[in-house]
Amino acid sequence: MLRISQLCKIFTSGNGMEQTALDCVDLHVGPGDFVTIIGSNGAGKSTLLNAVAGVYGVEQGRIWIEGQDVTLWPEHRRAALIGRVFQDPMIGTAASMTIEENLAMALKRGCRPGLRFGVNQQNREHFQELLSLLDLGLENRLKEPVGLLSGGQRQALTLLMATVSSPKILLLDEHTAALDPKTAEQIGELTRKIVASRRLTALMVTHNLQDALEFGNRTLMMDRGNVILDVRNPRRAKMTVDDLLEQFASLRGKRLLDDRALLA
Ligand SMILES: Nc1ncnc2c1ncn2[C@@H]1O[C@H](COP(=O)(O)OP(=O)(O)OP(=O)(O)O)[C@@H](O)[C@H]1O
Ligand SMILES: [Mg+2]
Repeated sequence: MLRISQLCKIFTSGNGMEQTALDCVDLHVGPGDFVTIIGSNGAGKSTLLNAVAGVYGVEQGRIWIEGQDVTLWPEHRRAALIGRVFQDPMIGTAASMTIEENLAMALKRGCRPGLRFGVNQQNREHFQELLSLLDLGLENRLKEPVGLLSGGQRQALTLLMATVSSPKILLLDEHTAALDPKTAEQIGELTRKIVASRRLTALMVTHNLQDALEFGNRTLMMDRGNVILDVRNPRRAKMTVDDLLEQFASLRGKRLLDDRALLA
């Protein structure tokens, strides 16, 4: 489904300093895999997701989605294959547009720019059905601007928008991190439900190590631009958060106490 070979991304800062954000990463994610990604700040997690989404070009390496080499595709072309949800609930929805207009826009993702996002009765019924899955009463608020929704409601809508056109890959970058604990849990549950019911292939970045083990079927640990650990079920199912921390410490060759603060 997603194949990455020898992917390198180097950022150059204003003073000419080079920062290797991705250091020759190889990765194969099979159809229906739900991969969680952990790692300390600056490990390269977001860069990996951004490189897959085509936010920027890469110095080296190739990316294939469903066998198609998308390495040179611009971001808008890849958007037809990829759904994304970010940490900030304000990104991903257009505040001044109504709920139904946002969903209509999401359905057209990857189509030629400039198309109007018209909503017909058939769409409307489809949207109502989808929104009722969220259990937030949004199915009765189709014509309200999204700007009136709470952060959690907006993130739930973003998740729906990211998946409404059945993307080949769903990329979630700490998408519950900015929400209060109860809302974060609700959005987490919703994520599980949507990924399972639509049989999506997903990559989810999280700093919550418990979530990293409980969501999906496989966990990657990144460090300094490398994937340093890749565990899948059934081995992963037996792992605890402490096991993850120990692995991190031994793979990195550092003291556990420091790492606990870094990784968690
Ligand atoms: N647009 C950019 N310009 C310059 N440097 C960048 C840019 N994006 C990321 N970097 C650098 O690349 C490295 C990896 O960053 P990245 O955002 O991928 O980390 P991360 O694992 O997502 O961290 P966090 O958990 O803090 O979100 C960091 O050193 C960061 O400073
Ligand atoms: Mg990040």
